[in-house]
Amino acid sequence: MKPIQVGLLGIGTVGSGTFNVLRRNQEEIRRRAGRGIEITMVADLDTARAQAVVGEGVQVVGDARAVIANPGIDIVVELIGGYGIARQLVLEAIEAGKHVVTANKALLAVHGTEIFAAAHRKGVMVAFEAAVAGGIPIIKALREGLTANSIQWVAGIINGTTNFILSEMRDKGLDFDVVLKEAQRLGYAEADPTFDIEGVDAAHKVTLMSAIAFGIPVQFDKAHVEGITKLAAQDIRYAEQLGYRIKLLGITKRTAKGVELRVHPSLVPAKRLIANVEGAMNAVMVSADAVGTTLYYGKGAGSEPTASAVIADLVDITRLHTADAAQRVPHLAFHPEAILANEGDLPVLPMGEVVTSYYLRLRVADEAGVLAKVTGIVAALGISIDAVLQREASEGENQTDLIILTHDCVESRMNDAIAQMQALPTVLAPITRIRKEELN
Ligand code: HSE
Repeated sequence: MKPIQVGLLGIGTVGSGTFNVLRRNQEEIRRRAGRGIEITMVADLDTARAQAVVGEGVQVVGDARAVIANPGIDIVVELIGGYGIARQLVLEAIEAGKHVVTANKALLAVHGTEIFAAAHRKGVMVAFEAAVAGGIPIIKALREGLTANSIQWVAGIINGTTNFILSEMRDKGLDFDVVLKEAQRLGYAEADPTFDIEGVDAAHKVTLMSAIAFGIPVQFDKAHVEGITKLAAQDIRYAEQLGYRIKLLGITKRTAKGVELRVHPSLVPAKRLIANVEGAMNAVMVSADAVGTTLYYGKGAGSEPTASAVIADLVDITRLHTADAAQRVPHLAFHPEAILANEGDLPVLPMGEVVTSYYLRLRVADEAGVLAKVTGIVAALGISIDAVLQREASEGENQTDLIILTHDCVESRMNDAIAQMQALPTVLAPITRIRKEELN
């Protein structure tokens, strides 16, 4: 059978990885897919560099629309990124009847509903394994491997840049700003790291996992997004003393009222495997009713790890594109009509309705009755304390840090407690609140 023809839009890090792995493993991939898969056309603004990557046998153009317009191309791989021109090109490729593979989490988390609806109408596939956790096949696991289960929650370290920074802060006892500069110098963090350090990249990814896990539309606009920029080295130290590590988690959880969808730094028990995921690595934990808890670990970025996910999608499409569109694996795991039906029953909850536990650090005057007042406020609101740590005040100091770990309570009640504690004259600085996830 004639090889399936692939057109790449953009041939940077992931695109060249895709080209190289596909060429290196072409025979094995052909035997798995049932026919050859060939990149025959590439669009990139830098045509000379692109041609140098792919060699003479592949047509290189400067205009992405020339790839979409080529009737010989079966699958368009979008590796441009962002939601400007990439959105337009993906919609045009779908309209032209092409299947699409993309690594673009931002695009799908924000415009996924429009893109999947267009693909459904045209009977083409949009595959996006590479959009979440790079080389880890987590989309496949959630959508297919765990299809027998009712999924309860998903929690992941899904941003390598921030995990690298947190690992360095813990190992070296350094503050965020210092480690960020070092990470940029070493090339671990981008020159503009905003999306990574503010939690936006992780929120894009957990939005996609949430949709697949629970059969709801992609709703990035409803996600609670908090990054790591305000984390202090001392909180990492205190957490350690209490048996926890601090990780930036993307969390989505099914509750009786709806779906929690949130990204924020979290204390995680140090004994959990996921707490020991260090450096730029990614890991995703899934809790489901039949299988229990499963953990997926690997490289969340990089040329060939991400290419591994892109090519897995190319193989899937090659295997499935002759199947009746209604019989294919649905884009978001659930059939579109089921997603629509779920929308009302499973709303994404506002952060005030999220239930979790907390780490609080209070800078307090070291005098009689302070602890009683603070714990009195917490008790009056029905919040149960799990542990308290009070650092001995250094000699000559008349203030100290008071650390409180709580059991689960609803976030709105914790907001009340923090406001009341903050108003005490003996609380001397803004209270630090970090959420805590036991993940059991
Ligand atoms: N910037 C991301 C990270 C990789 O640091 O994990 C691409 O999503």
